[in-house]
Amino acid sequence: MRTTPQPVPRTPEALVTSGCPRAKLHHDEPQADPYDVYARMRAEHGPVIPVELEPGVHGWLVTDYTTLISWSRDTTTFGHDARLWKDFREGRIDADAAVLPMMAPRANALFVDGAEHQRYRRAITDSLGAVGSDRLTEVTERYANGLIDEFCERGQADVLNEYARMLPLLVINELFGFDRDQGVRFVEAMRNLWLGVDAEKSNAEAERALSEVVTAKHREPGDDVTTRLIQHRAALSDEEVIMQLLLVVAAANEPTANLINAGVREVLADPNVAEGRAPSPTALADIVDRVLWQDPPITNYPVLYPRVDVPLGGGRTIEAGSPILLGFAASNRFFLEENAEQLAESRNRAHVAWGAGPHRCPAREEATTMTIVALRTLLERLPGLRVAVPPEDLRWHLSALSWIPVTLPVQFSPQSPLTPTPVEGTPWTASDSHPETSVRRAPTSGKSPLSSLSNFLVRLMRGS
Ligand code: HEM
Repeated sequence: MRTTPQPVPRTPEALVTSGCPRAKLHHDEPQADPYDVYARMRAEHGPVIPVELEPGVHGWLVTDYTTLISWSRDTTTFGHDARLWKDFREGRIDADAAVLPMMAPRANALFVDGAEHQRYRRAITDSLGAVGSDRLTEVTERYANGLIDEFCERGQADVLNEYARMLPLLVINELFGFDRDQGVRFVEAMRNLWLGVDAEKSNAEAERALSEVVTAKHREPGDDVTTRLIQHRAALSDEEVIMQLLLVVAAANEPTANLINAGVREVLADPNVAEGRAPSPTALADIVDRVLWQDPPITNYPVLYPRVDVPLGGGRTIEAGSPILLGFAASNRFFLEENAEQLAESRNRAHVAWGAGPHRCPAREEATTMTIVALRTLLERLPGLRVAVPPEDLRWHLSALSWIPVTLPVQFSPQSPLTPTPVEGTPWTASDSHPETSVRRAPTSGKSPLSSLSNFLVRLMRGS
């Protein structure tokens, strides 16, 4: 195993950085194999890669498992606090840079350290923890069935856009107590943020939708995560509540969608499943662990900032205040490849898909539960489920911070919906639209509120 480069205090020698060119992390064309792109970068630059996140935004990417863990735990040398970002502080980042909403300083748990971090993290974990696994399972199953009802008669679907991306959004929106209108506006803004579309406007729209939710919950508290955050003993201001909500929703949706998507591919590759034998709950949990090792849902995010210059050897130095992206996906994958023999002998969960150190994902149970329920429900409802294209035809969008799969077409024997009439207990209630919103309305039909919402979301996700 490789030894971890040791950070040292700033010295005149350490300030010298080599002029080596940066690897480009942004790609216009979808790619067939992201790992191949990263293997080439590593071959050229070594495991800690100087990168261009987008034109004019520079940083580093760690793709070494041991280094990633040790730097994440070393809170003396490295911080999550984006106020350490030197190029941003000194005005060298364009105001319309696509990465800004995901990297600019914010008062949320992921972007601060020490006591400030503890205060936010405690409020989040207490509020989320009160949901309970039974309620989470019930809500996830209900929306999973509702979504499957929308496409089960067709015998084919895009499981990524019609299911995996919808499900965590719908679940989280219910648990957080959003009404339909707030949910739809928020979802559109979050999607655009992840895709880097109109970043500043999307960010403002997401915050506006959340601000309305917080005002509404002050008026009428509910049994939901938003109300619990407002009432938490940490006494968060409304602004702080909005920042934690924004963090949790963003942290929850896209990664869980990616895990469900990768889980579907993995489970359908299992010969037993192909022959019609449903995997046991333990087998499903094992499949999810395998995916977390091989194909982690969060690829190059979040970001660490060194407080001092960090020499890397070979004359290269990471300057204090440079963004270092945590390359979870590449670190896991290359570690697996380098240690295949030892790892094959013992099943373990030592992957870094949930991160490492004090910021490690606090919602591992919740994300795993949603994913397992999503996979189980899909397999139970759709006999003969199979991926409709060969693996080499699947494509990924590579942006600086994430690799986003494009579609996952599947086929199955057509089935009748479980709920042809309105879904009982669906929480979406009609609300007055906000005069400023530019969101397209879902068509009003005789179908269920879930139906119109999920149809709307599907179109939204496809950008049609
Ligand atoms: C498969 C799904 C998920 C994956 C792979 C994942 C992974 C991660 C990772 C890698 C981090 C950063 C760790 C670090 O900096 O070392 C993180 C942080 C976080 N995640 Fe998750 N996450 C997932 C789902 C969720 C869900 C469902 C929620 C909430 C409902 C959530 C809430 C958070 C929060 C609040 C943080 C910030 C924690 C802090 O800074 O202390 N995540 N997650």
